[in-house]
Amino acid sequence: MYSTPSTVVLTLLFLVFLGKILLTLIRARRLRKLMPPGPPGLPLLGNILQIPTKDVWWRFLEWSQEYGPIFSLDFAGKPVVVLNTYETATDLLDRRSGIYADRPDLPMVNNILSGGMNLGFMHYGDLWRKFRRAIHENFNIHAAKAFEPMQTREAISFVSCILDDPHRWELDIKRFAASVVLRITYGWSLYDDSCGLSVEDKDRQVDEINSITHALSHALVQGSYLVNSFPTLLYVPKWLPGAGWKREGLDANKRWTKKFIGLVGDVRAKGAGKSDHCLSANLIENEERFGLDKRETAWLAGVMLAISHNPAVFTDPQEFRPERFLNPDDKDQHELSAEDESSSKVRPNPDKLYAFGFGRRICPGMHLANNSLFIAAATLLWACDITNALDEDGNAIIPDMNALFDTGLGM
Ligand code: HEM
Repeated sequence: MYSTPSTVVLTLLFLVFLGKILLTLIRARRLRKLMPPGPPGLPLLGNILQIPTKDVWWRFLEWSQEYGPIFSLDFAGKPVVVLNTYETATDLLDRRSGIYADRPDLPMVNNILSGGMNLGFMHYGDLWRKFRRAIHENFNIHAAKAFEPMQTREAISFVSCILDDPHRWELDIKRFAASVVLRITYGWSLYDDSCGLSVEDKDRQVDEINSITHALSHALVQGSYLVNSFPTLLYVPKWLPGAGWKREGLDANKRWTKKFIGLVGDVRAKGAGKSDHCLSANLIENEERFGLDKRETAWLAGVMLAISHNPAVFTDPQEFRPERFLNPDDKDQHELSAEDESSSKVRPNPDKLYAFGFGRRICPGMHLANNSLFIAAATLLWACDITNALDEDGNAIIPDMNALFDTGLGM
């Protein structure tokens, strides 16, 4: 019996793959003994099948009650440590941020779909430092102030829409969030015909950007692609039967790169100095100083848009108790000393709420996001009376606090 060259290649690849799985398993077994305690899992898959696809935090809460605030999981050989309290997260990610600022290998989302250019998912290193510096210069607490007048104008348009048709409030909130980030990134608004595009054209663009966010969020889920659990599969040639995921992923990356280059290209064509103040214009003007090439500029701006597109709410409480932020005994953030900040007894200050992450990877858009939330909420409260909807018997309907949470992103 003769073997064709492609059968030999396939058999060799299969053997390498099998060997890699065995090595991963042996390594996982060894590592598990050194890791913090955690729930036992299945032999090859570890705890993967025990992770719910929705509201995963409830399962984490159960496990932390059983195994403590730091516990570990095994994702098919990949060790995962879960920090389940504010104190453990700040202890490790803030105070020891020098060694905990990396991201895990995220082969599908980082290598294939983002071509290594996605600030949120890339490894901690020189490219991350370069991107982060450019973003910090545009979005730090002082620079974020320059966007406030624009955020106020957008908030007024948002509230006018709510007053026109209060039933569409959820759509209007999403539209406001999208519009502010588009303005910040490329100088467009969804409320007028700025940049010569009709509102419908812009809505289409937003849908496209949303589809990028969804593809990235999906690719981030551990079980969504085999390559997430077995990164060696990254080296499988894309022409191989069964490697459709790689072909499709690389095609998506090409399409998105073209899209992002096109969006920045519009600002470039206008002349960065003549555009409204926005991130792309600033990046273009300072490309040389930041050391960015055109592709990097395009991805840096594009990712800002995509990553911030799923506006999260402050996830602090189970109960609706806004007065927690008004406790007169609490210290204002400006009064906090370094010692206070490291004390677990002090309430986390609003600018550092854990919704924005920790340490060196803390959300660089947090000042913009906080300003947007404050301005929009203040404008809404100024313009509208907000009361409960009533049921058929005229009783107030108390909304479910958890009804609006989505699954979020996990990195
Ligand atoms: C309320 C809105 C927002 C929330 C709750 C939020 C939350 C977060 C969180 C939790 C992280 C991960 C931090 C970590 O790893 O410790 C993050 C990262 C990031 N966020 Fe936000 N974010 C928001 C808005 C924005 C906006 C408006 C932008 C951009 C304009 C943005 C851009 C980014 C980027 C680029 C990263 C990755 C940073 C890195 O890995 O170095 N976010 N965000």
